Amino acid sequence: MCGIVGYVGREEALPLILGGLERLEYRGYDSAGVALIEKGKLIVDKKVGKIRELVKSLWGKPYKAKIGIGHTRWATHGAPSEENAHPHTDEKGEFAVVHNGIIENYLTLREELKKEGVSFRSNTDTEVIAHLIAKNYNGDLLEAVLKTVRKLEGAFAFAVITVHEPERIVGVKQGSPLVVGIGKGENFLASDIPAILPYTRNVITLSDGEIADITPEGVNIYDFEGNPVAKEIMIVPWDIISAEKGGFKHFMLKEIYEQPKAVGDTIRGLVSEGDLPFSLKDFRRILMIACGTSYHAGLVGKFWIEKYAGVPTEVVYASEFRYADFPVSDEDLVVGISQSGETIDTKFALNFAKERGAKTLALVNVVGSSIDRESDYSLYTHAGPEIGVAATKTFTAQLTALLFLAVKGSEREEEALRSIMKIPSKLEKTLELSEDLENLALKYMKKKDFLYLGRYLSYPIALEGALKLKEISYIHAEGYPAGEMKHGPIALIDENMPVVVIAPKDRVYEKTLSNIEEVKTRKGIVLTVGYTGDERLKKISDEFIAVPEVEEDLSPFVTVVPLQLLAYHIASKLGLDVDQPRNLAKTVTVE
Ligand code: G6P
Repeated sequence: MCGIVGYVGREEALPLILGGLERLEYRGYDSAGVALIEKGKLIVDKKVGKIRELVKSLWGKPYKAKIGIGHTRWATHGAPSEENAHPHTDEKGEFAVVHNGIIENYLTLREELKKEGVSFRSNTDTEVIAHLIAKNYNGDLLEAVLKTVRKLEGAFAFAVITVHEPERIVGVKQGSPLVVGIGKGENFLASDIPAILPYTRNVITLSDGEIADITPEGVNIYDFEGNPVAKEIMIVPWDIISAEKGGFKHFMLKEIYEQPKAVGDTIRGLVSEGDLPFSLKDFRRILMIACGTSYHAGLVGKFWIEKYAGVPTEVVYASEFRYADFPVSDEDLVVGISQSGETIDTKFALNFAKERGAKTLALVNVVGSSIDRESDYSLYTHAGPEIGVAATKTFTAQLTALLFLAVKGSEREEEALRSIMKIPSKLEKTLELSEDLENLALKYMKKKDFLYLGRYLSYPIALEGALKLKEISYIHAEGYPAGEMKHGPIALIDENMPVVVIAPKDRVYEKTLSNIEEVKTRKGIVLTVGYTGDERLKKISDEFIAVPEVEEDLSPFVTVVPLQLLAYHIASKLGLDVDQPRNLAKTVTVE
């Protein structure tokens, strides 16, 4: 997926670009690089590893360039290495390109260029762009880019600079995100808004098929035919302060603690945005499409929608949806749940559904993201920027929005909304458990496998708890419906297996207690999450994590928090990189 930053203006470009890259590191961190133009020459520096490796290598180098592009990479084509790191240049070193996404026809283009005598230095798909632009250049970078994009297939965004025009960056968006930041006497390009937030809040979000032509004095947007496109400048409401760590050791911990606010802001935001322009009851079926943590939110939302709106609801992994023969029609509402609004699997699946006549609803955290713009309707989680790769506050904010969606227009809307309003204070109480979970983390951090069990609303929470542990602590963990355990996973249980059971007092409470007995009989270590004062549960548990009691529908909000904290404290005690776990990226813009 990767992150792109570009700067052209009157300031020294390098520190601005490096700062921007650091804020984009969540998009990938296998390697990083910059290209600057100074005294008519292209300077390229790149390093394998995180941005700090690049910063170290640039330390003390007296670059004063006022233009440059930078990149942080999550490897797709070509292993993480210095040759494959971006920027990539043409043979003469006159053009530099940073790229996010995949050029699907790069092998054909590479063969064509090789036949013309071009020699390649990397295994990437990106390098063809640099060679093609150099080949098509005739004194006008925009023109060369226009000629080049017509040959490219795939979903991508890239930025290019050339020594021939040292005050100009051209950026292209086709499938992968790209925004333009508007400053005074300076302008920016970036994959995502937080990269440029310290410098400007005035942003143009490019749409697919658009090209930005940027100089210190101005920004012009064109389509792929070279026709000018009029765009609106959006003023970003986020404050950069909320993207800083604010005294917490990690962004993830800060974001776990921000959940009462994220949920509260989401409720207030949704209520003030007023009535929905549709009713769930207008549809024959609701299809929810998502990946990762957002998919788990969808699984919870399904129970609520079926309960309150009475419309059959299915939740499908976005990556599985598009290539199956799903019968989608104009009687369906397809909801794309995505924190970033840029996950390519979700975006493509929604487009696929739209082409078949379905109405699409975006449930996103990032206003102006691709999924937001391309959907018929949008609902927002007002969680603020989430930096930790493992989603936390955006999950509870998604739950809030899904519950709101489910109850909206139902007979129980008012009563349900009153209940939702109580969640932030319950979450505050749940956060008091952090120290207890730190102690549990110390006790269990050396375990190799964990099982997470739950039934009904707690089953998706078991999946989410297991995902959190896997993502950041690299401990194998599996989430399972508690009643299904006897059909397989029970064979794994012995005296070394911690089994985390989510057991709020709900309609399946008694059944869950029976499942706990099954674990105990096999000598498993039972860690339970249940309601304060539940002596029965406490008695049969080796470890009992008590969360405040809430109405049945609301249990996922309070039961997920201790699971986030357990995963966090284990990873932190193991000394792992909590905010940027290995092999992962926050926003996945490849299929
Ligand atoms: C990545 C992240 C996950 C996230 C998933 C979906 O895999 O590492 O934390 O849940 O993408 O992201 P989205 O932005 O679509 O919610």
